[in-house]
Amino acid sequence: MSQRIAAKITGVAGYVPPRVVTNADMEKMVDTTDEWIRSRTGIRERHFADPGVASSHLGTEAAKKLLAMKGVRPEEIDLIVVATVTPDMLFPATACLIQDRLGATKAWGFDLSAACSGFAYALTVGAQFVGAGSHKKVLVIGADVMTSILDFKDRATCVLFGDGAGAVLVEPAASEAEGIIDFLHEVDGSGGCNLYMPAGGSLHPPSHETVDKRMHYVHQEGQQVFKYAVRRMSELACEILERNGLTSRDLALVVPHQANLRIIRAMQERLGLDDSKVLVNIDHYGNTTAATIPMGLVDAVEQKRLRKGDLVLLIAVGAGYTTGAVLMRWAY
Ligand code: UT7
Repeated sequence: MSQRIAAKITGVAGYVPPRVVTNADMEKMVDTTDEWIRSRTGIRERHFADPGVASSHLGTEAAKKLLAMKGVRPEEIDLIVVATVTPDMLFPATACLIQDRLGATKAWGFDLSAACSGFAYALTVGAQFVGAGSHKKVLVIGADVMTSILDFKDRATCVLFGDGAGAVLVEPAASEAEGIIDFLHEVDGSGGCNLYMPAGGSLHPPSHETVDKRMHYVHQEGQQVFKYAVRRMSELACEILERNGLTSRDLALVVPHQANLRIIRAMQERLGLDDSKVLVNIDHYGNTTAATIPMGLVDAVEQKRLRKGDLVLLIAVGAGYTTGAVLMRWAY
């Protein structure tokens, strides 16, 4: 059954730190090649934050750009939801740091941890408050500084990720012709062991031992995650379309999480979509975790690939395992 939320995205903005790191640069850090990275993942370059630059800084930049673009004053914001797996610190929440830097004095907020599905989850959660009528302007932000948890001695993971942030403004939708039509989220916790950061939480608090064992870094069973993502991305897409009486032919654009070009192309093939209907920017940014989808929306808007009324599908699979799909009619 479809679960319409009377809420729509009315603006998007992104921010990446200026330092570009190419595959040639990665060749100097680990035993890898440009050819391997490009052919196995589709990545050519990514952006790395400098030391001292955290997720809150990237998220604040994206949010500031968005507010300026929309002509919205910070004190008009009711709620800030930040999806991240690389919060500046365990507490206070990144949302609190961003709220303060923006001067969003009337907003409350919190962080949401759902890894690569984080933005889709945060959008659904933020939009609920708008749909319920209690909130008028909600900022939903995906921000990650993945370099803060990458092991630059592990070539199988460190070449995959980059740093970035994206922000969207969510406001009430006037009619069924615009805004969020449906969402579909799942958790399969049995896959948790395939992509995780073992230490730093309450199970393994930081100690000399956890540092020596490199437990504060991303650990991934790449092939397991790959197979799950390929299967679930297309299954989820079909399910959410089907239960709304739609088919992939009705889609104007899919904005998928950018983890691996081969995962995106597999989904694209199963849905029978041509390249014009699938947003790809992994070549420039790598996997920025919670930021991939809002940054994809920024590119889609800039490339004029979205028109008012277009059917758009946001879709992600990530650590947890978590899955997220949000179907909407583009509203501007
Ligand atoms: O966003 C969160 C969700 N994450 C994902 O969706 C990631 C899903 N997984 C993947 O995208 C892929 O599994 C990877 C890109 C991580 C790896 O690609 P793969 O085709 O599954 O490679 P593999 O792990 O099977 O490794 C193949 C070979 C191995 O060498 P041998 O054992 O065949 O000699 C690896 O040691 O490639 C080697 N390898 C590398 N070689 C050069 C692994 N990493 C690298 C590297 N450069 N960076």
